[in-house]
Amino acid sequence: MKVLVVGGGGREHAIVDALSRSPQVEKIFCAPGNAGIGRLAQCVDIKDTDVTALRDFASANGVGLTVVGPEAALAAGIVDEFRRVGLRIFGHTKSATQIESSKEFAKELMARYGVPTASYRGFSDFGEALEYVKAGSLPTVLKYDGLAAGKGVVVAETYEEAEDALRSMLLDESFGKGRVVIEEFLTGPEFSFMCFVRGNRIIPMPLAQDHKRAFDGDKGPNTGGMGAYTGLPFITDEDLEYARTNILQRTADAMVAEGRPLSGVLYGGLMKTPQGIKVIEFNARFGDPETEVVLPLLESDIADIFCWCAAMDSDTALPSADFAERATMGVVLASNGYPGAYSKGHAITLPSPLPPDVTVFHMGTKVADGALLTNGGRVLMVVATGTDLAAARHKAYDVVGQIGCPELFFRTDIAHQAL
Ligand code: AMP
Ligand code: GLY
Repeated sequence: MKVLVVGGGGREHAIVDALSRSPQVEKIFCAPGNAGIGRLAQCVDIKDTDVTALRDFASANGVGLTVVGPEAALAAGIVDEFRRVGLRIFGHTKSATQIESSKEFAKELMARYGVPTASYRGFSDFGEALEYVKAGSLPTVLKYDGLAAGKGVVVAETYEEAEDALRSMLLDESFGKGRVVIEEFLTGPEFSFMCFVRGNRIIPMPLAQDHKRAFDGDKGPNTGGMGAYTGLPFITDEDLEYARTNILQRTADAMVAEGRPLSGVLYGGLMKTPQGIKVIEFNARFGDPETEVVLPLLESDIADIFCWCAAMDSDTALPSADFAERATMGVVLASNGYPGAYSKGHAITLPSPLPPDVTVFHMGTKVADGALLTNGGRVLMVVATGTDLAAARHKAYDVVGQIGCPELFFRTDIAHQAL
């Protein structure tokens, strides 16, 4: 089978890496891909949201399965269009993707079906929103109701901060015209629980924890994620079962009941609060950088799982989905200045060969005249597996230390909540 992967970051590199281990996969294309992906797949210069060009490419090249990474492609309706012309594709329809693309849709769904989450109210009027914030307590959480590339959430510690954020979202329309959801502030450790879903059947993946802040000690601005690991000591088997049943399964059932069945990855961004586990956000796709630490543990054939999810109209049995009982951790190397302004095009040297159990996923790289260059905010993620987290951590940081590029920075405390 020929497979097309849509996207070009570390998440897609991990997907391509997992597909490359499948005996059924004879060739992988990736649009647009990156330098690391280019070693395993043929990169195709098509933008991830150019649905028409991707459809035509898949048809013309005998692609038997397309796998979608980014939410923007899902929100652009890539799955609806591929299905319309009879092409097999892994990912949710545009209407199911609303679980991520509309915060208010997700909040209403959770309220209607009893999925635990922070209490909230939605607003489109600046004055009313401000009044509501002033009548409430601090900190308060403001979320733009739409895709905002991870920048649409503000946890305001003061009324001035809240007012500035509301002004930017509702009056200046910084992310476009939209509504704002104002939420109760919750506390507790956050974790990511992803599952494959088809209709009301779910296949859970191992839990992971992201590190959203730029600097050590969870300081600095929010980023797309500076590192991740699996094996979370603060989540008990009971917690896991609670989240599986009352959050992921209940949400899959709710989406079927709403006529928007899921057919891809459901990502629960969850928090273990003193009042129990609650949903902070849902994503309609693999998390990044969580995917880079979860998929290396998959021992089963990922192509079987993707094809099972894609076959919405059949009742084929669940595919096997075995994950190794090992720990993984990964450290992101980002361009100096990220998540603010940064420069690109700096040369990177990677140790070669890499030690066993270590993979370097490329998040934002390109090759020019044979040289590997930085080409994004997050550039590389060094992922190691080990019998335990301490062993994995040792191996990962060893390789991080050997990567020659003064233009990159990284956190030195990934997995600190577990070690
Ligand atoms: P989100 O994009 O919805 O995941 O929000 C980004 C980050 O904001 C989350 O990872 C949390 O750290 C924080 N956050 C979002 N919602 C809440 C909430 N209701 N209470 C506390 N922190 C929150
Ligand atoms: N790691 C958070 C996300 O993928 O949205």
